[in-house]
Amino acid sequence: MDGNGRWALARGLPRVAGHQAGYEAMRRIVDAAPGLGIRYLTLYAFSSDNWKRPAEEVATVMNLLERYLREAVEDYGIKGIRLSVIGRRDRLPLRLCAAIEAAENATAGGERLHVRIAFDYSARGEILAAAARLGGMREPTVSSFARLLVGANPRLAEVDLLIRTGGEQRLSDFLLWECAYAELYFTPVMWPDFTPQELAAAIEEFGRRERRFGGLPVSTPSPNWVEVQG
Ligand code: FPP
Repeated sequence: MDGNGRWALARGLPRVAGHQAGYEAMRRIVDAAPGLGIRYLTLYAFSSDNWKRPAEEVATVMNLLERYLREAVEDYGIKGIRLSVIGRRDRLPLRLCAAIEAAENATAGGERLHVRIAFDYSARGEILAAAARLGGMREPTVSSFARLLVGANPRLAEVDLLIRTGGEQRLSDFLLWECAYAELYFTPVMWPDFTPQELAAAIEEFGRRERRFGGLPVSTPSPNWVEVQG
């Protein structure tokens, strides 16, 4: 969700106003997602490197997370939306941790859409933590390691489509393992201006991509025998 700061500065507003507008955009995107066929949606709200930002900006984003958790408890049950938060919790205020747990518990039964907010999140950090949990596992496989990384649901280990707004074309430590075969979609639109229509356009583009996962195009017949002429 990149571009909040530039969106605000372009309007002569403080950067935090961009995060507030970004919050509204996020609410609209989550509400539109199930209708566009999305079952899992992970939003990068605060990276572990974002601690370097000014204290006022960090506090604004934390307050927005708290507000989101409160609003989720109020209306995600009825909408069938499950909410969870990924990333480190040991550097967050205890009050925020309690609110995260409460929202996760209150929405655990949601089956229409699973929204994950990445907060104090670092993909490298998550991979390192999963590696530390390997313990005595002798020969880890991609799927056994993925379970250590994301838990029991294998869908969470495979990102289909990664969207970055704001014009930068990089991953910035987001879901690095999970994006091994993700389709990447970069748009210059600043996050507060990213609408459900923009999301629908990204999904349409995704539908035009050919996903081969290292194999051949599906239209290419694969020989079940090879004749060598001498
Ligand atoms: C990156 O844009 C965005 C963030 C660091 C914060 C994202 C937060 C929200 C969208 C709202 C908060 C929502 C929750 C649930 C916490 P940037 O500020 O780096 O933009 P810039 O590159 O234009 O400076």
